Amino acid sequence: MGKVILVASGKGGTGKSTTAAALACALSELGRRVVCLDADVELRNLDLCLGLSDCAMMDYGDVLAGRCSLDDALTPSREFPSLFLLAAPVEPPEGGAETLIPSLTENFDYCLLDCPGGLNTASQWAPWADLALVVAATDPCSQRDAARAAQVLAEHGLEKARLLINRVSRRFLRSTEATLDDTIDSVGLQLIGYVPEDQSVAYALASGKPLLSLSRRGAAAAYRRIAKRLDGQSVPLRR
Ligand SMILES: Nc1ncnc2c1ncn2[C@@H]1O[C@H](COP(=O)(O)OP(=O)(O)OP(=O)(O)O)[C@@H](O)[C@H]1O
Ligand SMILES: [Mg+2]
Repeated sequence: MGKVILVASGKGGTGKSTTAAALACALSELGRRVVCLDADVELRNLDLCLGLSDCAMMDYGDVLAGRCSLDDALTPSREFPSLFLLAAPVEPPEGGAETLIPSLTENFDYCLLDCPGGLNTASQWAPWADLALVVAATDPCSQRDAARAAQVLAEHGLEKARLLINRVSRRFLRSTEATLDDTIDSVGLQLIGYVPEDQSVAYALASGKPLLSLSRRGAAAAYRRIAKRLDGQSVPLRR
């Protein structure tokens, strides 16, 4: 049975879609079968982060409505083997996790759920996930919202959660006399890793390519290390 990893944050714009896509690519490089599901129905953009802009012909709304099979709705990555996007419908479907998740975990090693900001959608998918990755930046708003997200997810049955600190800037931390430990303490979750602020993220989006097909350094290297950790390898945290 595959593992379901929910990527959430509370605050919008922390890097959930970037994270879901990059980890999906990195897990696929490790030889795993991976599906990345866009749970952000209204503002979907996971396809962009995977370099699959507007490639999906069908979405999981079509699967749930019986208009196509799950196989028909899976869009394969161009660059990464055994990596598929399951695109979001335009209108929110009525339920569906109970139908989709068992089929996905039967066929994939990892299913990453890219949630929107806010807590409603993440709470709906939470009971079906094995692990939450809560993405936060080092600013106080992001920290507070991440702590609340972890609390709400636990109330919805998802108690296993890890913190991913994104957009880490040494210069910003130095100038505010803050540390990564401050973020870890205020969110109250175990750290799975941190990702540096890196212009390659925007560059990859602008060139329509997945970050990991363009870069081996910075954010891409950090995501590769986090994916190994998720996959059970012992990779020391770099601070
Ligand atoms: N490590 C990083 N370095 C630099 N820019 C980043 C990094 N991570 C994300 N970004 C940028 O931050 C913006 C938001 O990223 P992303 O869309 O992944 O966030 P999100 O949490 O999915 O947003 P939303 O809540 O709207 O779904 C994007 O412009 C992305 O390029
Ligand atoms: Mg997003």
